[in-house]
Amino acid sequence: MTKAIQHTVIIGGSSGIGLATARKLLGPDMKVTITGRNEDKLKSAWKSLGGAAEKAAFDASKPDEVRQFFERLGPFDHLVLAASGGKGLGPFPALDLSDIGSGVEEKVRPQLSCLQAALPTLNKAGSVTFISAVSAQLATPGVAGIAAINGMLLTVVPILAMELKPLRVNVVAPGVIDTPWWDFLAEEQRQALFADYAGRTPVGRIGRAEDVAAAIAFLVSNGFMTGQVLTCDGGLRFAA
Ligand SMILES: NC(=O)c1ccc[n+]([C@@H]2O[C@H](COP(=O)([O-])OP(=O)(O)OC[C@H]3O[C@@H](n4cnc5c(N)ncnc54)[C@H](OP(=O)(O)O)[C@@H]3O)[C@@H](O)[C@H]2O)c1
Repeated sequence: MTKAIQHTVIIGGSSGIGLATARKLLGPDMKVTITGRNEDKLKSAWKSLGGAAEKAAFDASKPDEVRQFFERLGPFDHLVLAASGGKGLGPFPALDLSDIGSGVEEKVRPQLSCLQAALPTLNKAGSVTFISAVSAQLATPGVAGIAAINGMLLTVVPILAMELKPLRVNVVAPGVIDTPWWDFLAEEQRQALFADYAGRTPVGRIGRAEDVAAAIAFLVSNGFMTGQVLTCDGGLRFAA
């Protein structure tokens, strides 16, 4: 009997972890649609996948655009939520608390909004994978703001796994991963930060987008995994 082709949608699939996940999942049994806001970036990501994926440009923080995208798309099997915020890092005494609200608007709300809009067409035998961050599991100075934002996603996952069953709902919590997420830092600063984290990480390096993509692919493909937080951080959680 031939295996049915499945379809994964990756929100935030034009770069970093989302793009690596598209590369990992694409194959004869898996169709992939990648999304992002920036059309040029999305097009070059699509080209890097050999044009084998589908692509759609829209802003996941805009509910109307999200709703229209899922209405147009039709039925699909797996949803990966990689849309990103970049706010909330830094020492607590100087933290601009409005960054927590912005982080929620840029990351938490878009991820939840995509899942909500996807529910009518997302295969109940499929899966959703959120991407949070290990910052929400660390007791280390300087991450309180970003942990507050990412912690929301860790909190909702077991609840949604029960409420939306049999749909499987999981979350990956990446450590420090070398992706364009860090482009807000100057090259020298970024390399110094990466070297510092590599030194503190038990496996002796920071992560690659492919490391996290493999964790996501496991959650997408394993039909017995739901309600789980999969930390993919090289052991940083226990060392930082
Ligand atoms: N890199 C790390 O060290 C690290 C660590 C922990 C957690 N994470 C999390 O991992 C996830 C993926 O991040 P990454 O490192 O792969 O960063 P990235 O390379 O900057 O990728 C972010 C992706 O999300 C898209 N995106 C952002 N906001 C969007 C929106 N409102 N609507 C649609 N698409 C949107 C971006 O495309 P456009 O810009 O074109 O919209 C891009 O495709 C994020 O949730 C991030 O917080 C990353």
